[in-house]
Amino acid sequence: MKCLSPSILSADYGNLSEALRLIDEAGAQYVHVDVMDGHFVPNITIGPVVVECIRPLTDRILDVHLMIENPEKYIHSFVKAGADIITVHAEACPHLDHTINMIKDEGILAGVAINPATPLSAIEYVLRKVDMVLIMTVNPGFGGQELIPYTVDKVCELKGMLTKKGIKTDIEVDGGITLDNVADVLDAGANIIVSGSSVFKGDISDNVRRFLDLM
Ligand code: DX5
Ligand code: ZN
Repeated sequence: MKCLSPSILSADYGNLSEALRLIDEAGAQYVHVDVMDGHFVPNITIGPVVVECIRPLTDRILDVHLMIENPEKYIHSFVKAGADIITVHAEACPHLDHTINMIKDEGILAGVAINPATPLSAIEYVLRKVDMVLIMTVNPGFGGQELIPYTVDKVCELKGMLTKKGIKTDIEVDGGITLDNVADVLDAGANIIVSGSSVFKGDISDNVRRFLDLM
């Protein structure tokens, strides 16, 4: 299934309830929550307390993207706060297999993310264990960047790998996805589309509807 996961990183943090209402009403299926710690990535954003506050405001899938070091320390807190999917970066997990087990043991969905320059081989052996693979299409840390073209080839390669192995894992893309390039990543095999600035800049409801029309 193809789904839109608007990233609230680009929303007005002072008025998240309105942002959530608009994206829900326009039909977005997920809410993408970017968690940054100032170590794994240069920026700092939000923690479990904010996830706990937004949980009662939406019944959509809370798609929590951890761009933090030592993510295993915080998995339980984000689950308690209401996350439906937790995605960790392979680059931040020396014991990736174990970290994925920790997420699954909490009874929620597990995702694994890789940065643009990280090869697919870094996650090849865990593809059967995860519910979603997140291919970063920009270097993580900030919204509003331009998609790095070679990451689209990587999505294609991942799709081929999954098909060959007979695995039905979701492929999420994150960073620089716009109304102009969303067709390219969908064609490459992605089915969960994260978009921050292209959803929250301008008319939010209209932007969501326009994305969904292209999906
Ligand atoms: C980047 C974040 C993204 C970001 C995407 O580090 O992981 O989720 O919010 O924003 P846009 O769509 O503006 O590139
Ligand atoms: Zn993200």
